[in-house]
Amino acid sequence: MARPQSRYVCQACGEAFLRWEGQCRACNAWNSLVETVVREIPAARARATGPALEPVPLASLADEVVPRLPVGLGELDRVLGGGLVPGSLVLVGGEPGIGKSTLLLQAAAGLAAGGRTVLYATGEESGGQVRLRAERLGLLAGPAAAAIRILAEHDVERIVAAARVLRPAAVIVDSIQTATLDELDGPAGSVGQVREAALRFMELAKGEGIAVILVGHVTKDGSIAGPKTLEHLVDAVVGIEGERGGTLRLVRASKNRFGATDEVGVLEMVEAGLREVADPARAFLVEHAVPAPGSVVAATLEGSRALLVEVQALVAPAGYGTARRTAIGLDPNRLALLVAVLGRRAGIGLGTHDVYANLAGGIAVADPGLDLPLAIALASTLRDRPVRPGTVAFGEVGLLGELRAVGGTERRLREAARLGFARALVPQARSGRPAVPGIEVIPVPTVRDALAGALEDAGPG
Ligand code: TYD
Ligand code: MG
Repeated sequence: MARPQSRYVCQACGEAFLRWEGQCRACNAWNSLVETVVREIPAARARATGPALEPVPLASLADEVVPRLPVGLGELDRVLGGGLVPGSLVLVGGEPGIGKSTLLLQAAAGLAAGGRTVLYATGEESGGQVRLRAERLGLLAGPAAAAIRILAEHDVERIVAAARVLRPAAVIVDSIQTATLDELDGPAGSVGQVREAALRFMELAKGEGIAVILVGHVTKDGSIAGPKTLEHLVDAVVGIEGERGGTLRLVRASKNRFGATDEVGVLEMVEAGLREVADPARAFLVEHAVPAPGSVVAATLEGSRALLVEVQALVAPAGYGTARRTAIGLDPNRLALLVAVLGRRAGIGLGTHDVYANLAGGIAVADPGLDLPLAIALASTLRDRPVRPGTVAFGEVGLLGELRAVGGTERRLREAARLGFARALVPQARSGRPAVPGIEVIPVPTVRDALAGALEDAGPG
């Protein structure tokens, strides 16, 4: 085969160059050139010059039934929208050690239990290491032992060739960062290699109707040059989150062409792999023996599932220079905005304080309903007064300190009531006060009112 030509294409403006340079000469963007293989596409060309195509009326389109391959783990199936779609390309991302290989080997076993063959290509580990994991997961006896085929290989062409012969229902590539093409100069894991490898796997998926799952390592700050550039290319992006020291894992689709995004699955890493937790809604709650200032329970909504999570805040007088604002699992822009709103609208002056905010359990939530609990947590830690026990809160905070309703009010309240919370601080809604049995709903118009209702009275002294 002729060696394909490669060009360095600016990811900002699309200009192509023959050599790599640190700065694009066309648009002056830095580090934006990516080695890209230039390929002839004769089929596309022929089509372009053929007879004009006839668009069909919307009404005459056939109803598309998407077939699904359940992977056996209910929580992962939920996130995928009901199972793997044949011919789809899925990217599974997460920090090293979070449990990607474990999750996918279990998914492979689930497919095997349904009578399907799975090709598991590993460029990271030896066959022996995969066997050790399989043994731990109890897969060496049972249908998985024969139906999961292991290929310790990093060469993309060879993996694709093996898949074309074996014709499995799914191919798992662990990981895309170790998959390489000989034709490209870049090292394994470079943007050019990762992109081209992913394109080859996409051809395999679409051409043969095989579901292909790519594993991508993501670092804490999310700066994964490689996998990040694949997100627009794949059909679904599934992320695994959690604290590496802890056992809980949140599985979430940030993109899904075949299902809802932001559906989450909650799993627990135990001795024999990942398993479902009995009550996902309360999994991330921490019981405190004594009420702690700076801690508030938020009733958040992830997709269609309500999760109760603990928002924690800590403030400390800043030293010299600019005060620090640190948000873990929360949007740092929302934190900065809330600090400003609290200062101007609620008499909570944090301008000269370092501010830290965190979601317990190592998860990240982008729900606008986190504003109010975060504001309460900040006030609670600054005043050193705990929140009244049994309280949950949710609601968006506007620039004027007003509270705005968020979606899923009833669902959040029902979960909070079910988990034994006694009262909920919610934005006052024009549509009236939501009534949910078992929980006192306290509608509040502004963040200032919410603080008055949330915090315990100051103790003596
Ligand atoms: P792994 O799936 O190898 O992570 P990744 O592929 O994302 O790098 O799993 C990492 C951790 O999970 C490892 O530290 C050991 C732990 N683990 C268990 O606790 N139980 C198990 O059954 C398995 C297989 C792993
Ligand atoms: Mg791994």
